[in-house]
Amino acid sequence: MVVCPSNPSEPLKPFEPLKPLEPLITLNNMYRKQTCGELRLANVGQEVTLAGWVQRVRKMGGLTFVDIRDRYGITQLVFDESEADAALCDKATHLGREYVIQVIGIVRERESKNRNIPTGEVEIVAKELNIISSSEVPPFTIEDKTDGGDDLRMQYRYLDLRRPMVRKNLELRHKLAFEVRRYLDAQNFLEVETPMLIKSTPEGARDFVVPSRMNPGQFYALPQSPQQFKQLLMVAGFDRYFQIVKCFRDEDLRADRQPEFTQIDCEMSFVEQDDVIEMFEGMMKHLFKELKGIEFDKFPRMTWEDAMKYYGSDKPDLRFGMKFVELKNMSPLRSYVQGADTSGVGQSVFPEGQFSVFDSVPYVAGINAKGCANYTRKQIDGLTDFVKRSQIGAKGLIWVRKNDDGTVKSSIDKFYAPEVIEAICAKFEAEPGDLMLILCGEMRRTQKQLCALRLEMGQRLGFRNPSVYVPLWVIDFPLFEWDEETQRYYATHHPFTSPNPDDVPLLDTDQGKVRSWAYDCVMNGVELGGGSVRIHDSQLQAKMFELLGFTEEKAMEQFGCLINAFKYGAPPHAGLAFGLDRVVSMFAEIDSIRDTIAFPKNNQGRDVMIDAPCAIDQAQLDELQIALNLKEE
Ligand code: AMO
Repeated sequence: MVVCPSNPSEPLKPFEPLKPLEPLITLNNMYRKQTCGELRLANVGQEVTLAGWVQRVRKMGGLTFVDIRDRYGITQLVFDESEADAALCDKATHLGREYVIQVIGIVRERESKNRNIPTGEVEIVAKELNIISSSEVPPFTIEDKTDGGDDLRMQYRYLDLRRPMVRKNLELRHKLAFEVRRYLDAQNFLEVETPMLIKSTPEGARDFVVPSRMNPGQFYALPQSPQQFKQLLMVAGFDRYFQIVKCFRDEDLRADRQPEFTQIDCEMSFVEQDDVIEMFEGMMKHLFKELKGIEFDKFPRMTWEDAMKYYGSDKPDLRFGMKFVELKNMSPLRSYVQGADTSGVGQSVFPEGQFSVFDSVPYVAGINAKGCANYTRKQIDGLTDFVKRSQIGAKGLIWVRKNDDGTVKSSIDKFYAPEVIEAICAKFEAEPGDLMLILCGEMRRTQKQLCALRLEMGQRLGFRNPSVYVPLWVIDFPLFEWDEETQRYYATHHPFTSPNPDDVPLLDTDQGKVRSWAYDCVMNGVELGGGSVRIHDSQLQAKMFELLGFTEEKAMEQFGCLINAFKYGAPPHAGLAFGLDRVVSMFAEIDSIRDTIAFPKNNQGRDVMIDAPCAIDQAQLDELQIALNLKEE
């Protein structure tokens, strides 16, 4: 056995705490001497100079209160007509929202304290007020609970970023990226930058392309990930690489997808799957400990087959149970990858010839929504509408309820004898009060539909608490995915992913059954990251290209550089990439990654603030020798 520094049996290298650095620039200049977030009772009596934005102005009799905000917090200023000169107080009453001001004054204890903010016990009695910059009335209120809709806030993102909630997400993002660098540096990883103008290769999504002026008619592509470069760095002997890197994918947007996003991209040499998993489980544990004070035991692992069988998803949300129960499974055994648990295949609780819907499908399965037997007709109809929505696509929903008194009622009572309904309840281990929700159809499609229903029920029952974290590694992904439309196999991960060596003989006989050495890090139903052990054997790589339908020329055209590099001594290597935006949104307990990104794109892929994308001048097009041929909408 090869012993290497990252052998999983060896403890990871411990951290050396960073030596604190002295800040070079102290906050003590002509604009300000303190921040709007630091003053406390201990500062009472001191003269202070603050600068920031006007959050609010309130006039109460002879007193004018002004809330001043900066990145660090909010402090209350008070202008008292009975003490200060009239011109100063008048100036304060005429301040507008978002004016930039400077104030000099004395800290005093507040009479009515605001316990909700750290500076809420003090206020500043103003002596001098200077308007540094005035502001037009902002288009929405700059507070966490704002009156601005999404579009407006995106158009004025620089104002939106003044809201504490959005600012806090970016602070979290900074800290998280910093801790990632600290952890990986301690583990001997080198951060290496790879190019942004690269060659277009199909990697799942569409490329964004950039025309080359100096090479007319030719285009660069922006990287969907630095995959090939990091593998080349391994050939170059860099051994442990990482990069916090922008990636670009021209795909349809969802809450967890942006066309331009950031990966924590990593690669290691002379390692096995377990080494990579161990290393990056360590990184996630470090981040949770440092940023949230949460400590995890070893992350559980689940095979892709089990994830599909019990949760209908390759990224199951394990914050709650509600595992699938199969009532009928006649799916052909070739639907499963090697080593899958196929117990129960070929079995059914339903006698034939009584309910044509169940007779005609290979797969019937359901979930037990515990304690939901009292759901009304209307609630069940609501769930039926939910599963029939075009995004989910089920034909209908069957239910069985075990009432509190132990009696059983179902939507299929008229088709089956009571013993069959009882057998269903027994399969679900149903107790009084339980509601079983059942879907049927082709196995993989139905599993996905049932997954959507499970998540919906989990949401309704309050099981999807964003501050509860349940991690998981999903392993043993199939190496290939069958595409019905084009009637061919595609690489599930990418063409460089290594098959599990035990399954290599199946490459020639039963491609669909081959497991890969690929793994995903999943948390609360979100795929945070994923990667694989790479093929470093050129014969196996050639075989993969052949199986994926690449001719030798085509493979050389697209991946020639890597194929050639592998001729000069390729170490065994493996890696993975986390989606930084997704990791931050997980830590921030928000669903959309948009508010973890300073300047995100909207759902149409537009930056409405700078108005991009946009048409370019004819002169620019001419220089690039590009003639547009736009289709009529
Ligand atoms: P993959 O394509 O799985 O792997 O991407 C890795 C991680 O990147 C994040 N991610 C995204 N985040 C936001 N918006 C998007 N459009 C988006 N697409 C992906 C996800 C995902 O888990 N080169 C391989 C990694 C490897 O094999 O080492 C890769 O890019 O969190």
